[in-house]
Amino acid sequence: MRRLILIGIGAGNPDYITVQAINALKQVDVVFVTDKGEETADLLRARKDVCERYMQARPYRIVEIEDAKRDRRPDAYQFAVAAWHEKRAASYERVIREQLSENDVGAFLVWGDPCLYDSTLRIIGQVAARKTVEFEWEIIPGITSIQALAARHRISLNEIGEPIHITTGRRLNDERPAVGTNVLVMLDGNCAFKTLANDDIDIFWGAYLGTPDEILFAGKLSELGERIEQARTSARSQKGWIMDTYLLRKRGSTAC
Ligand SMILES: C[S@@+](CC[C@H](N)C(=O)[O-])C[C@H]1O[C@@H](n2cnc3c(N)ncnc32)[C@H](O)[C@@H]1O
Repeated sequence: MRRLILIGIGAGNPDYITVQAINALKQVDVVFVTDKGEETADLLRARKDVCERYMQARPYRIVEIEDAKRDRRPDAYQFAVAAWHEKRAASYERVIREQLSENDVGAFLVWGDPCLYDSTLRIIGQVAARKTVEFEWEIIPGITSIQALAARHRISLNEIGEPIHITTGRRLNDERPAVGTNVLVMLDGNCAFKTLANDDIDIFWGAYLGTPDEILFAGKLSELGERIEQARTSARSQKGWIMDTYLLRKRGSTAC
């Protein structure tokens, strides 16, 4: 039976990889990576570095899967994402059938943790449910960007006995759980924090966490909002891409 492993490789620092992930990599014959174009060449390189570092014991192949195009018009969001996942499922199914022999082990190296804002798990689940190509599959957890954020700022994500809300930049303004206590924001291309009434909110922001290009800001949102936006714009134009995440916290609360 073919086997597939979705391996979380941590979000940034190559040392974030776990012993469990390294042991899994040693069994892998084929590594599947999605090619999302120029912008993510650095992330593709990071995955290849992981292979070079931990997979020397036996031969392996890297198979690049060209990523399906996605309709990014906001009015079509749910429909567009579902259609995009469908196209990706078809191409993942094809490469699993064509590139993975019976008894081979394949791996998808997933940035951070496969269970947090990443569609690989969902797509592999769809392919498995079709039963047109049979395989067993498992997930190896990784260190997420939000754990990296908390560690680099030396903060606890939650306050004593309080919940944490994790959301996207796109939804921050609609949900407004906001501005209670602890809100973690990911996938924010537009600095959604700008729209909050921010007098009593602290922000803990990080970009390229765990990498040599890491940028950190922490303090009052009212004082830092513009600086973060400028730093983000300039870093993005220099590197061609950016990944940032942040925690919003009402000032005066106690973390533990
Ligand atoms: C598609 S999600 C993937 C999340 C990933 N699975 C994880 O466990 O962190 C991409 C988002 O994660 C966050 N992210 C991932 N890596 C990051 C990093 N090194 N520094 C800052 N934010 C990061 C950003 O919010 C980015 O928009």
